[in-house]
Amino acid sequence: MSSKLARGVALVGAGMSKFGAFKGKSSRDLFVEAFVEMLESVDKGIDPKEINALYVGNYSSDLFEGQGHIAPIMASWTGLSPLPAVRVEDACASAGVAVREGILAVASGMYDVVVVGGVEKMTDLPIEKVTDTLATAADVQYEIPAGFTFPGFYAAMATSYMAAYGATPETFMKVGIKNHNNGAMNEKAQFGAKISTLMEARRQSAIKKGLPVPEWDSEMDFMHDDRANPIVAWPMRLYDCSPVSDGAAVVLLVSEDLAKKYTDHPIYVAGMGQASDGALHDRPVLNSIPSAKLAGEQAYRMAGITPQDIDFAEVHDCFTVAEVIASEDLGFFERGKGWIAAEEGVTSREGAKPINLSGGLKSKGHPVGASGVGQVVEVFKQLRGQAGPRQKPGQLRFGLTHNVGGTGQTCVVHIFERRD
Ligand code: COA
Repeated sequence: MSSKLARGVALVGAGMSKFGAFKGKSSRDLFVEAFVEMLESVDKGIDPKEINALYVGNYSSDLFEGQGHIAPIMASWTGLSPLPAVRVEDACASAGVAVREGILAVASGMYDVVVVGGVEKMTDLPIEKVTDTLATAADVQYEIPAGFTFPGFYAAMATSYMAAYGATPETFMKVGIKNHNNGAMNEKAQFGAKISTLMEARRQSAIKKGLPVPEWDSEMDFMHDDRANPIVAWPMRLYDCSPVSDGAAVVLLVSEDLAKKYTDHPIYVAGMGQASDGALHDRPVLNSIPSAKLAGEQAYRMAGITPQDIDFAEVHDCFTVAEVIASEDLGFFERGKGWIAAEEGVTSREGAKPINLSGGLKSKGHPVGASGVGQVVEVFKQLRGQAGPRQKPGQLRFGLTHNVGGTGQTCVVHIFERRD
Protein backbone atom coordinates (compact mmCIF):
# COMPACT_ATOMS: atom_id res chain seq x y z
CA MET A 1 0.00 0.00 0.00
CA SER A 2 1.32 3.45 -0.91
CA SER A 3 1.23 5.93 1.92
CA LYS A 4 0.96 8.83 -0.55
CA LEU A 5 -1.94 10.24 -2.54
CA ALA A 6 -1.77 9.57 -6.27
CA ARG A 7 -2.21 13.32 -6.73
CA GLY A 8 -2.43 16.23 -4.31
CA VAL A 9 -5.73 17.50 -2.96
CA ALA A 10 -6.58 20.94 -1.56
CA LEU A 11 -9.35 22.57 0.40
CA VAL A 12 -10.64 25.75 -1.22
CA GLY A 13 -13.95 26.43 0.54
CA ALA A 14 -15.68 25.73 3.85
CA GLY A 15 -18.95 26.62 5.53
CA MET A 16 -21.18 25.51 8.35
CA SER A 17 -24.59 26.17 9.82
CA LYS A 18 -24.84 27.29 13.39
CA PHE A 19 -24.83 24.25 15.67
CA GLY A 20 -27.69 24.08 18.19
CA ALA A 21 -31.26 22.93 18.68
CA PHE A 22 -33.45 24.15 15.85
CA LYS A 23 -37.10 23.27 16.17
CA GLY A 24 -38.29 24.38 12.77
CA LYS A 25 -35.37 23.13 10.68
CA SER A 26 -34.69 19.76 9.11
CA SER A 27 -31.31 18.34 8.17
CA ARG A 28 -31.84 19.48 4.59
CA ASP A 29 -32.32 23.13 5.71
CA LEU A 30 -29.10 22.95 7.74
CA PHE A 31 -27.17 21.31 4.92
CA VAL A 32 -28.26 23.98 2.42
CA GLU A 33 -27.21 26.71 4.90
CA ALA A 34 -23.73 25.19 5.20
CA PHE A 35 -23.48 24.60 1.44
CA VAL A 36 -24.34 28.22 0.62
CA GLU A 37 -21.76 29.49 3.13
CA MET A 38 -19.18 27.15 1.58
CA LEU A 39 -19.91 28.52 -1.93
CA GLU A 40 -19.56 32.10 -0.64
CA SER A 41 -16.23 31.27 0.99
CA VAL A 42 -14.55 30.38 -2.33
CA ASP A 43 -12.37 33.45 -2.93
CA LYS A 44 -12.51 33.45 -6.72
CA GLY A 45 -15.99 31.91 -6.88
CA ILE A 46 -17.21 28.58 -8.15
CA ASP A 47 -19.94 27.64 -10.56
CA PRO A 48 -21.73 24.64 -8.97
CA LYS A 49 -21.68 23.06 -12.44
CA GLU A 50 -17.94 22.48 -11.89
CA ILE A 51 -18.68 20.07 -9.02
CA ASN A 52 -18.33 16.35 -9.85
CA ALA A 53 -19.67 14.51 -6.80
CA LEU A 54 -21.09 14.85 -3.30
CA TYR A 55 -20.15 12.88 -0.16
CA VAL A 56 -22.37 13.22 2.92
CA GLY A 57 -21.41 12.11 6.42
CA ASN A 58 -24.48 11.18 8.43
CA TYR A 59 -24.82 8.84 11.34
CA SER A 60 -28.50 8.09 11.58
CA SER A 61 -31.03 10.30 9.86
CA ASP A 62 -33.02 7.05 9.69
CA LEU A 63 -33.53 6.91 13.45
CA PHE A 64 -33.26 10.63 14.26
CA GLU A 65 -35.61 11.87 11.53
CA GLY A 66 -37.18 8.75 10.05
CA GLN A 67 -35.41 9.59 6.79
CA GLY A 68 -32.95 7.23 5.17
CA HIS A 69 -31.17 7.58 1.82
CA ILE A 70 -30.14 11.11 2.67
CA ALA A 71 -27.31 11.79 0.19
CA PRO A 72 -29.49 12.20 -2.93
CA ILE A 73 -31.81 14.44 -0.91
CA MET A 74 -28.89 16.73 -0.05
CA ALA A 75 -27.82 16.67 -3.72
CA SER A 76 -31.31 17.65 -4.78
CA TRP A 77 -31.69 20.43 -2.19
CA THR A 78 -28.32 21.93 -3.07
CA GLY A 79 -29.06 21.75 -6.81
CA LEU A 80 -26.35 19.14 -7.38
CA SER A 81 -28.57 16.38 -8.81
CA PRO A 82 -27.93 14.28 -10.85
CA LEU A 83 -24.33 14.07 -9.59
CA PRO A 84 -23.27 10.92 -7.75
CA ALA A 85 -24.19 11.41 -4.09
CA VAL A 86 -22.78 9.05 -1.46
CA ARG A 87 -23.71 8.75 2.20
CA VAL A 88 -20.90 7.71 4.55
CA GLU A 89 -21.73 6.20 7.95
CA ASP A 90 -19.13 5.50 10.63
CA ALA A 91 -20.99 6.69 13.74
CA CYS A 92 -19.58 9.99 15.09
CA ALA A 93 -16.68 9.68 12.62
CA SER A 94 -19.06 9.65 9.63
CA ALA A 95 -18.07 13.13 8.45
CA GLY A 96 -14.33 12.64 8.96
CA VAL A 97 -14.51 9.44 6.94
CA ALA A 98 -16.56 11.25 4.27
CA VAL A 99 -13.73 13.80 4.01
CA ARG A 100 -11.28 10.94 3.55
CA GLU A 101 -13.46 9.33 0.85
CA GLY A 102 -13.71 12.68 -0.93
CA ILE A 103 -9.94 13.12 -0.81
CA LEU A 104 -9.39 9.60 -2.16
CA ALA A 105 -11.85 10.21 -4.99
CA VAL A 106 -10.03 13.38 -6.08
CA ALA A 107 -6.60 11.81 -5.56
CA SER A 108 -7.61 8.86 -7.77
CA GLY A 109 -8.15 11.22 -10.68
CA MET A 110 -11.79 10.20 -11.01
CA TYR A 111 -13.06 13.61 -9.90
CA ASP A 112 -11.49 17.08 -9.85
CA VAL A 113 -13.98 18.94 -7.66
CA VAL A 114 -15.86 17.28 -4.81
CA VAL A 115 -18.19 18.59 -2.11
CA VAL A 116 -18.01 16.84 1.25
CA GLY A 117 -20.57 17.61 3.91
CA GLY A 118 -21.86 16.21 7.15
CA VAL A 119 -25.25 16.65 8.75
CA GLU A 120 -27.26 15.48 11.73
CA LYS A 121 -30.58 16.58 13.20
CA MET A 122 -30.73 15.02 16.66
CA THR A 123 -33.09 17.17 18.68
CA ASP A 124 -36.41 16.00 17.25
CA LEU A 125 -36.22 12.96 19.54
CA PRO A 126 -36.55 12.98 23.34
CA ILE A 127 -33.24 12.45 25.18
CA GLU A 128 -34.01 8.76 25.96
CA LYS A 129 -34.45 8.02 22.26
CA VAL A 130 -31.32 10.03 21.39
CA THR A 131 -29.38 7.93 23.90
CA ASP A 132 -30.77 4.71 22.39
CA THR A 133 -29.92 5.87 18.88
CA LEU A 134 -26.36 6.77 19.86
CA ALA A 135 -26.06 3.41 21.59
CA THR A 136 -26.40 1.63 18.25
CA ALA A 137 -22.83 2.82 17.56
CA ALA A 138 -21.63 0.52 20.37
CA ASP A 139 -21.80 -3.27 20.49
CA VAL A 140 -25.50 -3.96 20.92
CA GLN A 141 -24.91 -7.65 21.58
CA TYR A 142 -22.51 -7.34 24.50
CA GLU A 143 -22.37 -3.74 25.76
CA ILE A 144 -25.80 -2.16 25.61
CA PRO A 145 -27.62 -5.08 27.35
CA ALA A 146 -25.10 -4.62 30.20
CA GLY A 147 -26.44 -1.10 30.70
CA PHE A 148 -23.87 1.04 28.94
CA THR A 149 -24.69 4.40 27.38
CA PHE A 150 -22.17 6.74 25.76
CA PRO A 151 -21.67 8.87 28.85
CA GLY A 152 -21.19 5.52 30.66
CA PHE A 153 -18.50 4.31 28.24
CA TYR A 154 -16.48 7.48 28.55
CA ALA A 155 -16.99 7.48 32.33
CA ALA A 156 -15.41 4.02 32.37
CA MET A 157 -12.53 5.33 30.27
CA ALA A 158 -12.16 8.29 32.63
CA THR A 159 -12.04 6.13 35.76
CA SER A 160 -9.50 3.86 34.12
CA TYR A 161 -7.41 6.88 33.12
CA MET A 162 -7.58 8.40 36.60
CA ALA A 163 -6.62 5.10 38.24
CA ALA A 164 -3.66 4.61 35.91
CA TYR A 165 -2.21 8.10 35.86
CA GLY A 166 -3.46 10.12 38.83
CA ALA A 167 -5.77 12.54 37.05
CA THR A 168 -8.84 13.66 38.97
CA PRO A 169 -12.35 14.80 37.97
CA GLU A 170 -10.99 18.35 38.30
CA THR A 171 -8.71 17.71 35.31
CA PHE A 172 -11.75 17.10 33.14
CA MET A 173 -13.58 20.10 34.57
CA LYS A 174 -10.64 22.26 33.48
CA VAL A 175 -10.91 20.90 29.94
CA GLY A 176 -14.60 21.84 29.96
CA ILE A 177 -13.84 25.37 31.18
CA LYS A 178 -11.15 25.77 28.51
CA ASN A 179 -13.43 24.60 25.70
CA HIS A 180 -16.26 26.87 26.84
CA ASN A 181 -13.75 29.77 26.88
CA ASN A 182 -12.88 28.98 23.26
CA GLY A 183 -16.49 28.41 22.23
CA ALA A 184 -17.44 31.80 23.65
CA MET A 185 -15.54 33.26 20.69
CA ASN A 186 -17.35 31.09 18.14
CA GLU A 187 -20.57 32.57 16.78
CA LYS A 188 -21.57 29.13 15.47
CA ALA A 189 -21.32 27.40 18.86
CA GLN A 190 -24.34 25.82 20.51
CA PHE A 191 -23.14 26.58 24.05
CA GLY A 192 -20.97 29.58 23.23
CA ALA A 193 -20.63 30.95 26.75
CA LYS A 194 -17.84 30.84 29.29
CA ILE A 195 -18.56 28.92 32.46
CA SER A 196 -18.12 32.22 34.36
CA THR A 197 -20.86 33.76 32.18
CA LEU A 198 -23.17 30.80 32.82
CA MET A 199 -22.50 31.16 36.55
CA GLU A 200 -23.43 34.83 36.51
CA ALA A 201 -26.57 34.11 34.46
CA ARG A 202 -27.64 31.53 37.06
CA ARG A 203 -27.08 34.06 39.84
CA GLN A 204 -29.10 36.73 38.05
CA SER A 205 -31.89 34.27 37.35
CA ALA A 206 -32.05 33.33 41.05
CA ILE A 207 -32.18 37.02 42.02
CA LYS A 208 -34.96 37.66 39.50
CA LYS A 209 -37.00 34.71 40.79
CA GLY A 210 -36.42 35.68 44.43
CA LEU A 211 -34.65 32.35 45.08
CA PRO A 212 -31.56 31.86 47.28
CA VAL A 213 -28.56 33.16 45.32
CA PRO A 214 -25.82 30.54 44.90
CA GLU A 215 -22.46 31.58 46.32
CA TRP A 216 -19.92 30.03 44.01
CA ASP A 217 -16.49 31.58 44.60
CA SER A 218 -14.90 30.31 41.38
CA GLU A 219 -15.66 28.44 38.17
CA MET A 220 -14.33 25.26 39.79
CA ASP A 221 -16.71 25.78 42.70
CA PHE A 222 -19.57 25.97 40.19
CA MET A 223 -18.30 22.85 38.42
CA HIS A 224 -18.37 20.94 41.73
CA ASP A 225 -21.97 21.95 42.46
CA ASP A 226 -24.19 18.91 41.87
CA ARG A 227 -27.16 21.12 41.10
CA ALA A 228 -25.40 23.41 38.63
CA ASN A 229 -23.28 20.66 37.09
CA PRO A 230 -25.06 17.37 37.76
CA ILE A 231 -23.30 14.03 37.48
CA VAL A 232 -24.33 12.24 34.29
CA ALA A 233 -22.08 9.17 34.71
CA TRP A 234 -19.35 9.71 37.32
CA PRO A 235 -16.92 11.37 36.86
CA MET A 236 -18.56 12.85 33.77
CA ARG A 237 -20.86 15.71 34.66
CA LEU A 238 -23.06 17.88 32.45
CA TYR A 239 -20.17 20.19 31.50
CA ASP A 240 -18.03 17.19 30.60
CA CYS A 241 -20.52 16.07 27.95
CA SER A 242 -20.93 17.28 24.40
CA PRO A 243 -24.55 18.24 23.82
CA VAL A 244 -27.28 16.82 21.63
CA SER A 245 -27.14 18.99 18.52
CA ASP A 246 -28.41 19.83 15.08
CA GLY A 247 -26.04 21.12 12.44
CA ALA A 248 -24.24 20.75 9.14
CA ALA A 249 -20.83 21.56 7.72
CA VAL A 250 -19.54 21.48 4.14
CA VAL A 251 -16.11 21.74 2.49
CA LEU A 252 -14.91 21.90 -1.10
CA LEU A 253 -12.02 19.68 -2.21
CA VAL A 254 -10.21 20.06 -5.52
CA SER A 255 -7.15 18.55 -7.15
CA GLU A 256 -3.99 20.43 -6.24
CA ASP A 257 -3.36 21.60 -9.80
CA LEU A 258 -6.76 23.32 -9.88
CA ALA A 259 -6.56 24.90 -6.43
CA LYS A 260 -5.30 28.33 -7.51
CA LYS A 261 -8.23 28.66 -9.89
CA TYR A 262 -10.41 28.99 -6.80
CA THR A 263 -8.20 30.81 -4.31
CA ASP A 264 -4.69 32.17 -3.84
CA HIS A 265 -4.66 30.57 -0.38
CA PRO A 266 -5.57 26.89 -0.66
CA ILE A 267 -5.08 24.58 2.27
CA TYR A 268 -3.44 21.32 1.30
CA VAL A 269 -4.06 17.77 2.50
CA ALA A 270 -0.68 16.83 3.98
CA GLY A 271 -1.53 13.54 5.65
CA MET A 272 -4.36 11.27 6.64
CA GLY A 273 -4.97 8.00 8.43
CA GLN A 274 -7.82 5.76 9.45
CA ALA A 275 -8.07 2.64 11.59
CA SER A 276 -10.74 0.45 13.11
CA ASP A 277 -11.05 -1.68 16.23
CA GLY A 278 -13.38 -3.93 18.18
CA ALA A 279 -15.77 -2.49 20.74
CA LEU A 280 -14.55 -1.15 24.08
CA HIS A 281 -15.33 -4.30 26.12
CA ASP A 282 -12.96 -6.24 23.89
CA ARG A 283 -9.88 -4.09 24.44
CA PRO A 284 -7.03 -4.72 26.86
CA VAL A 285 -7.01 -1.11 28.07
CA LEU A 286 -9.73 1.49 28.42
CA ASN A 287 -7.58 4.57 28.80
CA SER A 288 -6.33 4.96 25.25
CA ILE A 289 -7.84 4.48 21.80
CA PRO A 290 -5.58 2.28 19.64
CA SER A 291 -7.30 3.24 16.37
CA ALA A 292 -6.51 6.90 17.08
CA LYS A 293 -2.86 6.12 17.65
CA LEU A 294 -2.68 4.17 14.38
CA ALA A 295 -4.59 6.78 12.37
CA GLY A 296 -2.31 9.51 13.76
CA GLU A 297 0.85 7.55 12.92
CA GLN A 298 -0.35 7.03 9.34
CA ALA A 299 -1.12 10.73 8.97
CA TYR A 300 2.26 11.85 10.34
CA ARG A 301 4.04 9.39 8.07
CA MET A 302 2.20 10.63 5.00
CA ALA A 303 2.88 14.27 5.92
CA GLY A 304 6.51 13.52 6.77
CA ILE A 305 6.19 15.35 10.10
CA THR A 306 5.99 14.54 13.80
CA PRO A 307 3.39 15.49 16.43
CA GLN A 308 5.70 18.35 17.48
CA ASP A 309 5.11 20.00 14.08
CA ILE A 310 1.36 20.32 14.61
CA ASP A 311 0.47 23.93 15.45
CA PHE A 312 -3.07 23.21 16.69
CA ALA A 313 -5.62 20.43 16.64
CA GLU A 314 -9.37 19.93 16.60
CA VAL A 315 -9.89 16.68 18.51
CA HIS A 316 -12.98 14.63 19.26
CA ASP A 317 -13.91 15.78 22.77
CA CYS A 318 -17.33 14.10 22.86
CA PHE A 319 -16.55 13.94 26.59
CA THR A 320 -13.77 15.95 28.22
CA VAL A 321 -11.77 12.83 29.06
CA ALA A 322 -11.67 12.00 25.34
CA GLU A 323 -9.67 15.17 24.68
CA VAL A 324 -7.03 14.22 27.24
CA ILE A 325 -6.76 10.68 25.86
CA ALA A 326 -6.59 12.02 22.29
CA SER A 327 -3.73 14.34 23.20
CA GLU A 328 -1.71 11.25 24.14
CA ASP A 329 -2.92 8.97 21.33
CA LEU A 330 -1.84 11.64 18.84
CA GLY A 331 1.60 11.84 20.41
CA PHE A 332 1.34 15.43 21.63
CA PHE A 333 2.20 14.26 25.14
CA GLU A 334 3.63 11.10 26.62
CA ARG A 335 1.23 8.43 27.80
CA GLY A 336 -0.11 9.43 31.22
CA LYS A 337 1.03 13.06 30.86
CA GLY A 338 -1.83 14.52 28.84
CA TRP A 339 -3.80 15.42 31.95
CA ILE A 340 -0.84 17.36 33.36
CA ALA A 341 -0.55 19.31 30.08
CA ALA A 342 -4.28 20.05 30.25
CA GLU A 343 -4.01 21.24 33.86
CA GLU A 344 -0.99 23.41 33.06
CA GLY A 345 -2.77 25.16 30.18
CA VAL A 346 -0.54 23.74 27.43
CA THR A 347 -3.69 22.97 25.39
CA SER A 348 -5.31 26.36 25.93
CA ARG A 349 -5.44 29.11 23.26
CA GLU A 350 -2.29 30.64 24.70
CA GLY A 351 -0.53 27.30 25.23
CA ALA A 352 2.10 25.60 23.09
CA LYS A 353 -0.35 23.01 21.73
CA PRO A 354 -3.81 24.59 21.45
CA ILE A 355 -6.60 22.04 21.26
CA ASN A 356 -10.14 22.79 20.15
CA LEU A 357 -9.83 26.48 19.39
CA SER A 358 -13.40 26.23 18.03
CA GLY A 359 -14.76 25.24 21.44
CA GLY A 360 -14.66 21.58 20.42
CA LEU A 361 -17.63 19.28 20.44
CA LYS A 362 -18.17 20.23 24.08
CA SER A 363 -19.03 23.86 23.48
CA LYS A 364 -19.52 24.17 19.73
CA GLY A 365 -21.91 21.20 19.68
CA HIS A 366 -21.85 17.65 18.36
CA PRO A 367 -24.34 16.94 15.56
CA VAL A 368 -22.69 13.56 15.31
CA GLY A 369 -22.61 13.01 11.54
CA ALA A 370 -21.44 16.60 10.91
CA SER A 371 -18.72 17.02 13.54
CA GLY A 372 -15.82 15.67 11.48
CA VAL A 373 -16.42 18.22 8.71
CA GLY A 374 -17.00 20.93 11.35
CA GLN A 375 -13.46 20.27 12.58
CA VAL A 376 -12.09 20.69 9.03
CA VAL A 377 -13.98 24.00 8.67
CA GLU A 378 -12.19 25.30 11.78
CA VAL A 379 -8.77 24.18 10.57
CA PHE A 380 -9.41 25.80 7.15
CA LYS A 381 -10.30 29.09 8.85
CA GLN A 382 -7.47 29.06 11.37
CA LEU A 383 -4.83 28.22 8.76
CA ARG A 384 -6.07 31.03 6.51
CA GLY A 385 -6.24 33.54 9.38
CA GLN A 386 -10.01 33.86 9.05
CA ALA A 387 -11.19 32.62 12.45
CA GLY A 388 -12.19 36.10 13.64
CA PRO A 389 -12.00 36.72 17.39
CA ARG A 390 -10.77 33.20 18.10
CA GLN A 391 -7.97 33.33 15.54
CA LYS A 392 -4.79 31.91 17.02
CA PRO A 393 -2.16 34.59 16.39
CA GLY A 394 1.13 33.86 14.65
CA GLN A 395 2.16 31.74 11.70
CA LEU A 396 0.19 28.50 11.57
CA ARG A 397 1.33 25.82 9.17
CA PHE A 398 -0.08 22.44 10.22
CA GLY A 399 -3.57 21.83 11.67
CA LEU A 400 -4.83 18.35 12.61
CA THR A 401 -8.33 16.90 12.91
CA HIS A 402 -9.14 13.77 14.93
CA ASN A 403 -12.63 12.27 14.60
CA VAL A 404 -13.72 9.20 16.56
CA GLY A 405 -16.64 6.85 15.90
CA GLY A 406 -18.16 5.20 18.95
CA THR A 407 -15.53 4.55 21.59
CA GLY A 408 -12.84 4.21 18.93
CA GLN A 409 -14.15 1.44 16.69
CA THR A 410 -13.30 4.01 14.01
CA CYS A 411 -10.83 6.85 14.08
CA VAL A 412 -9.84 9.12 11.22
CA VAL A 413 -7.11 11.77 11.35
CA HIS A 414 -6.27 14.47 8.80
CA ILE A 415 -3.37 16.90 8.67
CA PHE A 416 -3.84 20.08 6.65
CA GLU A 417 -1.09 22.47 5.61
CA ARG A 418 -0.80 26.10 4.63
CA ARG A 419 2.04 26.52 2.13
CA ASP A 420 1.96 30.22 1.21
N1 COA B 1 -23.37 21.02 27.95
C1 COA B 1 -23.80 22.18 28.52
N2 COA B 1 -25.09 22.42 28.80
C2 COA B 1 -25.98 21.48 28.45
C3 COA B 1 -25.61 20.27 27.83
C4 COA B 1 -24.25 20.06 27.59
N3 COA B 1 -23.81 18.92 27.03
N4 COA B 1 -26.72 19.54 27.60
C5 COA B 1 -27.75 20.26 28.05
N5 COA B 1 -27.31 21.42 28.56
C6 COA B 1 -28.10 22.44 29.26
C7 COA B 1 -29.42 22.78 28.61
O1 COA B 1 -29.35 23.94 27.78
C8 COA B 1 -30.29 23.05 29.80
O2 COA B 1 -30.00 24.34 30.31
P1 COA B 1 -31.16 25.27 30.97
O3 COA B 1 -31.67 24.48 32.13
O4 COA B 1 -30.43 26.50 31.33
O5 COA B 1 -32.17 25.43 29.89
C9 COA B 1 -29.80 22.06 30.84
O6 COA B 1 -28.44 21.84 30.50
C10 COA B 1 -30.56 20.76 30.85
O7 COA B 1 -30.73 20.38 29.49
P2 COA B 1 -31.44 19.04 29.06
O8 COA B 1 -31.70 19.15 27.58
O9 COA B 1 -32.59 18.73 29.95
O10 COA B 1 -30.29 17.98 29.30
P3 COA B 1 -30.43 16.43 29.17
O11 COA B 1 -30.35 15.85 30.54
O12 COA B 1 -31.58 16.05 28.32
O13 COA B 1 -29.09 16.07 28.37
C11 COA B 1 -26.92 15.14 28.46
C12 COA B 1 -27.83 16.25 28.93
C13 COA B 1 -25.53 15.36 29.00
C14 COA B 1 -27.46 13.78 28.94
C15 COA B 1 -26.91 15.16 26.90
O14 COA B 1 -26.38 16.40 26.46
C16 COA B 1 -26.09 14.03 26.32
O15 COA B 1 -26.54 12.89 26.24
N6 COA B 1 -24.86 14.31 25.86
C17 COA B 1 -23.98 13.31 25.29
C18 COA B 1 -24.28 13.12 23.84
C19 COA B 1 -23.50 11.96 23.29
O16 COA B 1 -23.36 10.93 23.90
N7 COA B 1 -22.99 12.12 22.06
C20 COA B 1 -22.22 11.10 21.42
C21 COA B 1 -20.88 11.06 21.98
S1 COA B 1 -19.92 9.72 21.42
